[in-house]
Amino acid sequence: MNSLQSSFLAAAPIAGAGAGAGVRLAAPTRRARVSACLAVPPPPPTGAVSTGAPRELSAASRAVIEDEARYLVGTYNRSKVVIVSGRGCKLYDIDGREYLDLAAGIAVNALGHGDPDLVAASANQAATLVHISNTVYSQPQVELAKRLVETSFADRVFLANTGTEANEAAIKFSRKFQRVAHPGGDAPVEFLAFSNCFHGRTMGALALTSKSQYREPFEPVMPGVTFTEYGNVEEARKVIRSGKIAAVFVEPVQGEGGINSATGSSCWGCGWLATRLELS
Ligand SMILES: Cc1ncc(COP(=O)(O)O)c(C=O)c1O
Repeated sequence: MNSLQSSFLAAAPIAGAGAGAGVRLAAPTRRARVSACLAVPPPPPTGAVSTGAPRELSAASRAVIEDEARYLVGTYNRSKVVIVSGRGCKLYDIDGREYLDLAAGIAVNALGHGDPDLVAASANQAATLVHISNTVYSQPQVELAKRLVETSFADRVFLANTGTEANEAAIKFSRKFQRVAHPGGDAPVEFLAFSNCFHGRTMGALALTSKSQYREPFEPVMPGVTFTEYGNVEEARKVIRSGKIAAVFVEPVQGEGGINSATGSSCWGCGWLATRLELS
């Protein structure tokens, strides 16, 4: 979800290029930006060096790494690199070494680091209003939702902070949808996901994540999830036809699973199957 959000913000709407009837495209309200890496970034911080050479850990890096181990819960297996700044698609570590940011956060920094418009918008908002409860209305929240609806397939927007929350919401939305669609009480409540998939770390999203090292330490997770082979439409078809499946969770490109792409017959095939087989 996070990557979907960011690619939406990075892409310029192209008239006539939508997926067919019902796609609404609004005129772009600002200059289109394709990629932070295609823009000329500002100069790197003074002292930055670009090198692929292996290196000894500096005292500064070691101090941060040791404090991390002392003060943070050890949930991540991190590379021993301490990043202190970024410009465009470049990152700089505590010793001034330069890196190409191939991960872009985790596919969320579509505008790169230090984008002047993003910096100004964030600073302005922070100076105006930081956070308010969802029990009152927020003008920027409504404006963002309106813009997303006008430039995408969606009718309405659910805003979440993380990918795992988006998937938790998708679990709930699909169960609610099925309950409304099956008032007789026979609503399907189970889910289909695929081998090597990753959908997040909260308990619901974890149940949809096939990789055992994420799931097993926290079992029992939410029951009712079937995993079939990523890209195997026939296998998916059989499970969907059981009539028990409320929703299918599929990554168009797997990241955690090893950069596997489900193009044509697999990913969109499953989406098509889900639609045709009355999942939506
Ligand atoms: C495909 C996919 N789904 C869900 C998530 C979870 O997103 P988040 O870390 O924002 O909770 C990720 C994170 O890497 C992801 O790659």
